[in-house]
Amino acid sequence: MPFATSLKDAIRTIPDYPKPGIMFRDITTLLGDARAFRRTVDELVQPYAGTKIDKIAGIEARGFILGGAVAHQLSAGFVPIRKKGKLPHTVVSVAYSLEYGLDEMEMHEDAVAPGERVILVDDLIATGGTATAAVELLRRIGAEVAACVFVIDLPDLGGADRLRALDVPVRTLISFE
Ligand code: PRP
Ligand code: ADE
Repeated sequence: MPFATSLKDAIRTIPDYPKPGIMFRDITTLLGDARAFRRTVDELVQPYAGTKIDKIAGIEARGFILGGAVAHQLSAGFVPIRKKGKLPHTVVSVAYSLEYGLDEMEMHEDAVAPGERVILVDDLIATGGTATAAVELLRRIGAEVAACVFVIDLPDLGGADRLRALDVPVRTLISFE
């Protein structure tokens, strides 16, 4: 497959997945495009290079792929925020709703030390239910959420504004209206 010319062009849209009426923004095509993947990670980290970031928190599943690359680039540790029942040690957990359902997420209670500066990474923000819950978990264990970064914003669903209302800086690279 040739390299896509813009990050937006590198994202594939699947209508009616996983439910009728959802336009699913599929980042696997972006991840498979070497230049687009590198450019995405470079753009996500750009404002934070040289600043003190202790940990990157990535949300399962797609936030793991991007978050790992961002952590490497910023020489930060990586913290997985996972769906219920996947983490082996003592967890903090929170229930949340998203564009097409309900779920529960967890994080190890000792994954971040109080006062550590954390950037939350995910592929996409829609309603903001997932990211808002992740910020709540991080703050509950004393983390300072320095920023939340996403490749894709669905602004019509209001998630980025919902996060900003919690006093969290939000960075997104691409919007789908
Ligand atoms: C997707 C996406 C975000 C979330 C955004 O994950 O990767 O994590 O939805 O939606 P919201 O802003 O409305 O909360 P999903 O829950 O589909 O899980 P997956 O990555 O494991 O497929
Ligand atoms: N998560 C929530 N809404 C989504 C969408 N439209 N595409 C991909 N992931 C999503």
